[in-house]
Amino acid sequence: MLSNIDEFIKEYKKYVITSYSEPFPLIITKGNGVYVTDIEGKKYLDFWAGIATVNIGHNNPIVQEAVRKQMNELVHCSSQSYYTIPALNLAKKLVAIAPSQSCKVTFHTSGSEAIDVAIKMVRRYTKKHEILTLQGCYHGRTYGAHSIGTPVGIYSKSYVMGPYASGAIHVPAPYCYRCSLGHEYPKCNIQCAKIIEDIVNFGSSRDIAAFIAEPILGVGGIITPPNEYFQEVKKILNKFGILLILDEVQTGFGRTGRFWASEVYNVKPDLITVAKALGNGWPISAVMARGDIGDSLEPGDHFSTWGANPIMCAAASATIDYIIQNKLWENAERMGTLLIKRLKEMESKYEIIGEARGKGLMIGVEIVKDKKTKEPMHDKCKEIRKLCADYGLLVGIGGFWSNVIRIQPPLTINEEHIDKAMEAFEKAVNEVKNT
Ligand SMILES: Cc1ncc(COP(=O)(O)O)c(C=O)c1O
Repeated sequence: MLSNIDEFIKEYKKYVITSYSEPFPLIITKGNGVYVTDIEGKKYLDFWAGIATVNIGHNNPIVQEAVRKQMNELVHCSSQSYYTIPALNLAKKLVAIAPSQSCKVTFHTSGSEAIDVAIKMVRRYTKKHEILTLQGCYHGRTYGAHSIGTPVGIYSKSYVMGPYASGAIHVPAPYCYRCSLGHEYPKCNIQCAKIIEDIVNFGSSRDIAAFIAEPILGVGGIITPPNEYFQEVKKILNKFGILLILDEVQTGFGRTGRFWASEVYNVKPDLITVAKALGNGWPISAVMARGDIGDSLEPGDHFSTWGANPIMCAAASATIDYIIQNKLWENAERMGTLLIKRLKEMESKYEIIGEARGKGLMIGVEIVKDKKTKEPMHDKCKEIRKLCADYGLLVGIGGFWSNVIRIQPPLTINEEHIDKAMEAFEKAVNEVKNT
């Protein structure tokens, strides 16, 4: 006999197309702080935070209040057809905290749209066409973002979806655990960065507009490049006049232990794309670009009815204020260090944990058959995720082979949450290790 949940999912699938995303079988009805609750009243520690989005906790009352206040004034008038106050307020805040100088901002709705706009900007500005991207990157699924992306895990880039926009050139990911060049860090001398010069010289038209990268690859499995990676890359980009776009859609707003991941890697991008945590769950994204690059867009190059929506801008302004007032990146750094310590202990104990890695509260645990072969184990990873949920903990999955548990909780977690989460996680790993 079907349970109520099975019935709901059956009905849902009758009406809603889920074939391209296949949701985890939980019906979430409430969110509060670090927790969400399902339809049966079971509470879960949400260590994936709506895919690294609700950085300041579910239903944060300060953001809710800002939204309510703005709703009473104006919901929508199309802020790209008229001027609105919340858009200016938010732009000023972002410019004040931007890692690069003389930055300007344009607002959109999703991370993918921000990526599309960034591509348009660099092509318009440089009058060049090609874009360098990382193997295993994920920048979204509008056609532009999909075109510069690669297949990763269960996320395909199928031939039948083409023709994609041309011009993407993929370079090796700085994936030390599985170096595609066969090197070992630090003896490698960062060959994965150095090889970009050869790829520009002999694998492109040499007319490259930009290099785009996630500072830490999120969907790709929380791949953390070596600390000096982006500085090496930047030297090469400067040599050829290639712009640097950092996609901080997952890494921004304190997630990695600094406000921006570009600070972690000590590099100054020409453009940044942001979304997810910007609105703490309200759909808003932005491109923060050097003013001369941003202003190169011409009428008709881009437009969106919802861009800079007043409510989304109010939510984002309140979110940024909250992060800054509570210095949440510092908590991310502290809690991340504790989490990594616990996970590293498990790594040395369990053969199926190939590597635990991350920065701040952007953490990945790579599940393998054993440490020697490093064979990726998608099914075991899925099983760990399921058991974690049984024990009241929500985590995500990513990775080149969908074999990496993603741990990206709200930045507001404390030690008690970590204890509970790690207890559930270890129980799950223990159960799966011999299956
Ligand atoms: C790094 C990165 N860029 C862009 C996107 C696309 O964002 P959205 O799903 O809001 O379109 C994502 C989504 O996961 C992402 O992780």
